[in-house]
Amino acid sequence: MRRKYLVQELLRETTQKLTQAGIERAAREAQLLFMAFFEKDELWLISHQKSEVEVEEAFFHWVERRSKNEPFEYIVNRVSFYSEEFYIDEGALIPRPETELLIDEIEKNVVDKDAVMIFVEVGVGSGIISIMLAKKFKNAKIIAIDISSQALRVAQKNIEKFGLQERIELREGSLLEPIVESIDYLVSNPPYIAADAMLESNLSYEPQNALFGGSVGDEIIQKLLDEVLKRKIRFFSCEMGYDQKDKIQNYLKNKNFSSLEFYKDYSAFDRGFTLKV
Ligand SMILES: C[S@@+](CC[C@H](N)C(=O)[O-])C[C@H]1O[C@@H](n2cnc3c(N)ncnc32)[C@H](O)[C@@H]1O
Repeated sequence: MRRKYLVQELLRETTQKLTQAGIERAAREAQLLFMAFFEKDELWLISHQKSEVEVEEAFFHWVERRSKNEPFEYIVNRVSFYSEEFYIDEGALIPRPETELLIDEIEKNVVDKDAVMIFVEVGVGSGIISIMLAKKFKNAKIIAIDISSQALRVAQKNIEKFGLQERIELREGSLLEPIVESIDYLVSNPPYIAADAMLESNLSYEPQNALFGGSVGDEIIQKLLDEVLKRKIRFFSCEMGYDQKDKIQNYLKNKNFSSLEFYKDYSAFDRGFTLKV
């Protein structure tokens, strides 16, 4: 069923519903839902407050979902990362802005941007990291692994969206199990939260195996470090929890590698590292 509304009326009603549900910045959220649903931009919205729109039930269903604190990105099936727009749904983690810094970190380390090289990403999720690497390093091949078939489905969709099927190969499996090739650069934003951590309620919509890295949190990172040292992978860049720097340093004490450097996120928290072997 369709109903007719003035734009300003619909925004007012939506804002009210979201406010009652305890959603912060409800007026802005109402605008964002409106713009995504009707595929309009800010300028249109400002200049058409008194225009009439026909509203389908599906819009109210979106508002209902947002009222239950479901993340906006899952509702509109869109997320932006590194100035690009990606498809997203509940099968994969919503990319976080700080992961852009992992891409910058890798870019800093690859001196020859045209080199023919093999990147491996463990935990590809929606595919954002592998896709950005393929865009930045035109002669690189990327093999991207995930343990979740749902995440691989989302990654596949994004790889096709960017026309990168020839450059990025997806493999299902755990850690580096599906890799026999020699790896030039290993990359990962693994799950790194401790199993008993108290999290915000909207995180319950995201795949739990994308968030939790084990009872302590850094178990997967440690396993990846073991693989890097065993396989003598030259570069390993990895995102981590803000409180995991000391543990990683200790874990690598007395092991053979050439350097270990940490980087911080936008809030100046430790957020990742590069290990060079
Ligand atoms: C934090 S998410 C990162 C997703 C994406 N790379 C990003 O940065 O937005 C971690 C991903 O690792 C995957 N994962 C968890 N355990 C894994 C394992 N043992 N081997 C491979 N992938 C794993 C999860 O399914 C999830 O997609």
